[in-house]
Amino acid sequence: MPTAEGAAPFVPKTRNLDRLRRAAATCRGCDLYRRATQTVFGLGAPDARVVLVGEQPGDQEDRQGAPFVGPAGDVLRRALLEAGIPLDKVYLTNVVKHFKFEERGKRRIHKKPGRTEIVACRPWLNAELEAIRPDVVVSLGATAAQAIMGSRFQLMKDRGRFLPTSQAPKLLATLHPSAVLRAPERADRHRLYRLLTADFRVVASELDGASRGRARMARKRPASRILVAKGRLATPRG
Ligand code: URA
Ligand code: SF4
Repeated sequence: MPTAEGAAPFVPKTRNLDRLRRAAATCRGCDLYRRATQTVFGLGAPDARVVLVGEQPGDQEDRQGAPFVGPAGDVLRRALLEAGIPLDKVYLTNVVKHFKFEERGKRRIHKKPGRTEIVACRPWLNAELEAIRPDVVVSLGATAAQAIMGSRFQLMKDRGRFLPTSQAPKLLATLHPSAVLRAPERADRHRLYRLLTADFRVVASELDGASRGRARMARKRPASRILVAKGRLATPRG
């Protein structure tokens, strides 16, 4: 039976990611564990500087047990590298750790997680963030952004710049890489891919700044605002 508390009773009090991952494998905090193949916990360096948060595992992720191993993951990695974010500096995860789907013939079609599942699964994301303590959290797509920033968050209005939140030292919301793949027109796919990489460049410049140390960070702030402003210029507004 899923518990009313969601995942909380299954989350051990530890900052060790491997222990968290092992515990998540037997989570029954909501009904999604029943039909999915396995828990898809986050993956990446325990000392990652950036945590990227997607929505939930897809079909491939459910089969392989790792996040972003399907086509959206390919777009994501390409955009990160193009923006100058090394893959060994990132940790990939999702707001919901089990695949939710609808069967259509032989195909399993992704179904958006509901609020109950998002709330139930949240303790896992919190535990991952506590364990890693990244400099930057990047949400991918509207579901992840709203799970973190609240349901009134408007992705296309507020993406691409750092936002104040109690959930992370710095949070930036960007598109989901699968939005790039879903756009029917080639020109739109290019445009969305450019937005994604522009947003990742904002993150890359923040990482450069952070690695120059706290003291210099204070002086660097105006410069990073300019970069953020540039990121916003790329936003289609209105
Ligand atoms: N889409 C997501 O949001 N997460 C994954 O892990 C894969 C695809
Ligand atoms: Fe637990 Fe999250 Fe899976 Fe629900 S989706 S069973 S809360 S790990």
